[in-house]
Amino acid sequence: MMDEDKAGQDERAREILRVNDRGGYTVPTARLYPFQWNWDSALVAMGWAMFDEARGWREIEMLLAGQWEDGFVPHIVFHAPSEDYFPGPEVWGLAERAPPTSGITQPPVLATAVRWMLERARARAEAAARAAAIYPRLVASHRWWVRARDPHASGLVTTLHPWETGMDNSPAWDEALARVPRETTTPIVRRDIAHVAAAMRPRAEEYERFIHLVDLFRGLGWSPEKMLAESPFKVVDIGTNAILLRAERDLLVLARRFGSVAERAEIEARIARQGAAIGRLWSGAGGIYFSADLIANALIPVSTSAGMLPVFASEYGHAAALAARLRAWAEAVRWLVPSIAPDSPSFEPQRYWRGPVWPCMNWMLADGFGAAGETATARLLAEAMGALIRASGFYEYFDPCDGAGLGGTDFSWTAAVALLLPREGEGDPRF
Ligand code: GLC
Repeated sequence: MMDEDKAGQDERAREILRVNDRGGYTVPTARLYPFQWNWDSALVAMGWAMFDEARGWREIEMLLAGQWEDGFVPHIVFHAPSEDYFPGPEVWGLAERAPPTSGITQPPVLATAVRWMLERARARAEAAARAAAIYPRLVASHRWWVRARDPHASGLVTTLHPWETGMDNSPAWDEALARVPRETTTPIVRRDIAHVAAAMRPRAEEYERFIHLVDLFRGLGWSPEKMLAESPFKVVDIGTNAILLRAERDLLVLARRFGSVAERAEIEARIARQGAAIGRLWSGAGGIYFSADLIANALIPVSTSAGMLPVFASEYGHAAALAARLRAWAEAVRWLVPSIAPDSPSFEPQRYWRGPVWPCMNWMLADGFGAAGETATARLLAEAMGALIRASGFYEYFDPCDGAGLGGTDFSWTAAVALLLPREGEGDPRF
């Protein structure tokens, strides 16, 4: 990308973050997503930090204002009411909390963002003070993951709702989700398809099952033990587990500065356990990591972009094979990285997590492949993102075949990823 192009794109990206700023937190996009989302915020905080470090820290502090007493970090924090989104705080039955939140979580990118911001800070004293105050919250959040979602210390955490994976309608969840009944006690009032074409969103049937799970968990009082015992949807998501392992490694770096000897030992033990366990999700036959269905007690043989995320977790044993796989995908589609293998029968290039390119994935995978020494692959992912934004705009996701922009417009994490992209000739494909 030419420098002038990059400068113009960066200016537009900063403008999008400012427009989506609701006073300390950033909505993913106006109307479609009018609250603060968990993993969006981690990316957005880094984007802000590229030009306003104090605002970047604020983003994280606002998300953590929604953290529960037991360490749980919700997937949505409802800072202010809005009519534009379903299911709102009443459906979660958590409207009385201050601030109201959802009752499920999302992939934990937060510790990674905090380390990233701390290490790149120009205002070093302020960054150290803010990171030190955030650090105990991150420790509590990682302890929650293990206590609530891996009580037997297998090294792999369980996900109980497709929304928790951040990849809502991924074909990887089709079979597991089919076991969830369609009946809901909450009447479904979809607001998303008033903002975006239905063909780019999950189907009605998936939505019913999503809400069935919310109804069930609300009825269980959001008790982690009961949810884990009773959920009809129970998967080990390779994406969440890889992101958590990466977050643990970043938390360890923070603990060396802010934590106790005991905390460091605790985090190191989790890293050892998780690192060994994630290897069990590698499929030699598939040439990629798979998620697992805990109810069917089997790996889920669907090749998704999440199946490459162990490189983001600094697991490089299969990095070369994964890079080769990605290059094979690049023969079939014009733009990387499609959310599932383009030769899969479930591939739909415009439908949400069933094919499109998502900026968060390009950022994580470029970072991981770059660190693994797969520089050419990392550069390909970074360049694809820049080119897609240049050609189509700051969309939520993109068609990997023709590059069309899809879903919400002027999207915050797309803007953040654009700001994090290296300039041409900078050499280092790691963000
Ligand atoms: C959708 C995406 C999810 C994201 C959210 C807000 O639900 O699937 O990953 O966090 O929108 O952007």
